[in-house]
Amino acid sequence: MQKMKWNKKKVHVFPFLVILLLVFITFSTLHNGSTIGQIHESPDHIHQVEASLAIYVKPNLSSHLNKSQEVLDRFSRCNSTTEYTGRKIARRGDSKSSVRQRVSAKSCDVFSGRWVFDNASYPLYNEADCPYMSDQLACNKHGRTDLGYQHWRWQPHDCNLKRWNVKEMWEKLRGKRLMFVGDSLNRGQWISMVCLLQSEIPSDKRSMSPNAHLTVFRAEEYNATIEFLWAPLLVESNSDDPVNHRLDERIIRPDSVMKHASLWEHADILVFNTYLWWRQGPVKLLWTDEENGACEKLDGQEAMELAMGSWADWVSSKVDPLKKRIFFVTMSPTHLWSREWNPGNEGNCYGEKDPIDFEGYWGSGSDLPTMSSVENILSSLNSKVSVLNVTQLSEYRKDGHPSIFRKFWEPLRPEQLSNPSSYSDCIHWCLPGVPDTWNELLFHFL
Ligand SMILES: *[C@@H]1O[C@H](CO)[C@@H](O)[C@H](O)[C@H]1NC(C)=O
Ligand SMILES: *[C@@H]1O[C@H](CO)[C@@H](O)[C@H](O)[C@H]1NC(C)=O
Ligand SMILES: *[C@@H]1O[C@H](CO)[C@@H](O)[C@H](O)[C@H]1NC(C)=O
Ligand SMILES: *[C@@H]1O[C@H](CO)[C@@H](O)[C@H](O)[C@H]1NC(C)=O
Ligand SMILES: *[C@@H]1O[C@H](CO)[C@@H](O)[C@H](O)[C@H]1NC(C)=O
Ligand SMILES: *[C@@H]1O[C@H](CO)[C@@H](O)[C@H](O)[C@H]1NC(C)=O
Ligand SMILES: *[C@@H]1O[C@H](CO)[C@@H](O)[C@H](O)[C@H]1NC(C)=O
Repeated sequence: MQKMKWNKKKVHVFPFLVILLLVFITFSTLHNGSTIGQIHESPDHIHQVEASLAIYVKPNLSSHLNKSQEVLDRFSRCNSTTEYTGRKIARRGDSKSSVRQRVSAKSCDVFSGRWVFDNASYPLYNEADCPYMSDQLACNKHGRTDLGYQHWRWQPHDCNLKRWNVKEMWEKLRGKRLMFVGDSLNRGQWISMVCLLQSEIPSDKRSMSPNAHLTVFRAEEYNATIEFLWAPLLVESNSDDPVNHRLDERIIRPDSVMKHASLWEHADILVFNTYLWWRQGPVKLLWTDEENGACEKLDGQEAMELAMGSWADWVSSKVDPLKKRIFFVTMSPTHLWSREWNPGNEGNCYGEKDPIDFEGYWGSGSDLPTMSSVENILSSLNSKVSVLNVTQLSEYRKDGHPSIFRKFWEPLRPEQLSNPSSYSDCIHWCLPGVPDTWNELLFHFL
């Protein structure tokens, strides 16, 4: 029946798919988005906005939950759209400090290394023992039987990572709020952290709030929380509802960071990320002083630079590094085309069982222009933000994605089922797995 309908009346199936897509939170978005991003990839695309022509706008740090403009949501529309006029976010750069140089001089680059098979110490927890595991990341539960992906340890070339220790981590978190802020990749890292730590807490002394914009894991005896705030674009956008967001049109207020910052500003340790949501084509900008609903259109990477500019201004004006730790997690690579690591092969991450064993491997799932623009922005904040540069080490892990071994929200069609690689998730990461290493790095620097 369904099949006939699909064959004969595609027109009726399409709205049905749209509804499913709305329900089906991030994966489909990211999958689609990064696919588009990849197709339109132009590695030598260099952004040159003439500084002299730019109009600098100060991010409106005071406007939160108290504004005359409507809050963006999935019903928001642009009344009209024009080309980008060149407005930029004016940032208060920190005075260039030498913190980064000092740190790198006295310690080795833990992000440069290799994966070592170590089934004696890894995984750090069992998938089935974590009651907070997500069905989208529980690969073994969803049928993955090759479990090699759980047994790899990251080994930096010139030193060792601090050995993961649950009790020591809890001591670092005592009386504190640790908050992850970002998209579904960051949510995966948050779930990994909860799974790494939860077993230490008796079940009647811990709790998890219902899934919402802000989701909170609480451990009573340490008076500590591990939280996740959904803010895939960091600034205010029409995608700020973790479930009900628009997929087809991305609207942001590039100068409005307070909507989210009002929720994150009291956390003690913050872990940010943002990347894939910018890679789905042009973004519409609705500046806060614009009263007629007129938007400007800009490509994803430049829009990301504007948003990160607002975020950076929040960091430099509001963060006291003695009181707050801020981390930024660099882009999480995707493995959508196996020809990139295995020329002539036309698959994706489906069926991959081992890491890439080629030092310095770099695929198209990590966008280099984005990488350098992020580095540029972060370098002006280097006394306040620690970078968790997970991109290269995750690039090697083509084996770490769920592929077909996760819960899918869309019913899979027969033609998909007959071709598993067509519905593989090569964006997120199985747990236990790669994000556990990101958290070991966080532990290392905390
Ligand atoms: C991605 O989304 C666009 C609409 O935004 C759609 O036309 C296209 O078919 C989608 N591609 C995939 C691979 O789902
Ligand atoms: C709203 O903004 C006005 C002026 O900008 C300020 O005086 C007032 O305290 C704000 N209200 C809230 C609830 O933040
Ligand atoms: C900042 O936001 C407040 C409240 O929405 C608004 O009254 C004020 O004009 C804004 N300031 C700027 C510079 O946009
Ligand atoms: C660990 O891996 C080695 C080599 O693959 C294997 O011989 C051994 O049985 C494994 N040990 C455990 C505990 O799985
Ligand atoms: C628990 O931690 C919060 C900060 O997260 C702090 O304000 C509060 O005083 C702490 N309570 C106790 C009993 O230590
Ligand atoms: C769009 O324009 C109409 C008419 O000019 C106006 O009434 C409406 O408020 C505008 N919408 C927004 C979101 O500003
Ligand atoms: C992260 O490391 C890569 C090398 O693996 C480097 O090219 C990039 O600039 C670094 N990113 C940041 C933000 O430091």
